[in-house]
Amino acid sequence: GTVRSIGVCNFNVTMLRKAIEEIGAPIACHQIEYHAFLDQSKMLNYLREKGIPLVAYAPLAQGTAASDPVLQGIGVKHGATAAQVALAWLLEQDGVAVIPKAQHRESQKSNLDALAVKLDDDDRHAIAVLPKDHRFVNPPFAPEWDA
Ligand SMILES: NC(=O)c1ccc[n+]([C@@H]2O[C@H](COP(=O)([O-])OP(=O)(O)OC[C@H]3O[C@@H](n4cnc5c(N)ncnc54)[C@H](OP(=O)(O)O)[C@@H]3O)[C@@H](O)[C@H]2O)c1
Repeated sequence: GTVRSIGVCNFNVTMLRKAIEEIGAPIACHQIEYHAFLDQSKMLNYLREKGIPLVAYAPLAQGTAASDPVLQGIGVKHGATAAQVALAWLLEQDGVAVIPKAQHRESQKSNLDALAVKLDDDDRHAIAVLPKDHRFVNPPFAPEWDA
């Protein structure tokens, strides 16, 4: 009863269910890898059902999103960079926050400016058909992932 809210990371849905539904832990957010090249629909559906935000780590696919030709093409249309498109795609999703890491000031500013990039349905379709099985963070102690 002394802790009001708890952030967790790298849980799968089974682990979250246990924490929330069996233990009754006040889970405030869940941090997990999520970007245009990794499916997290099962996790997102569960978190939305519970009203818990997903905090997307490695939202730029550890920097590789910046050189993806599909994202670059979408960026050209909107006067944006591929990295901004990658962040905009996450930010427009209900219940998703992003934590890009950037050590350069220009990248930090550019990432903040991604908030102003608005995608259309053609863009969403082009991103939806990108491969969604690229996981960058998968240490030996990781749980069995949902996707
Ligand atoms: N909970 C966990 O298990 C877990 C696991 C992994 C990561 N994380 C956290 O998630 C955060 C981000 O993840 P991450 O660092 O793995 O991956 P990321 O944010 O997807 O990518 C970081 C890379 O993208 C580059 N970058 C940043 N902004 C850019 C831009 N506008 N244009 C081009 N390149 C850009 C960065 O370069 P520069 O830095 O050189 O600018 C860096 O090389 C970190 O704070 C990390 O601590 C958590």
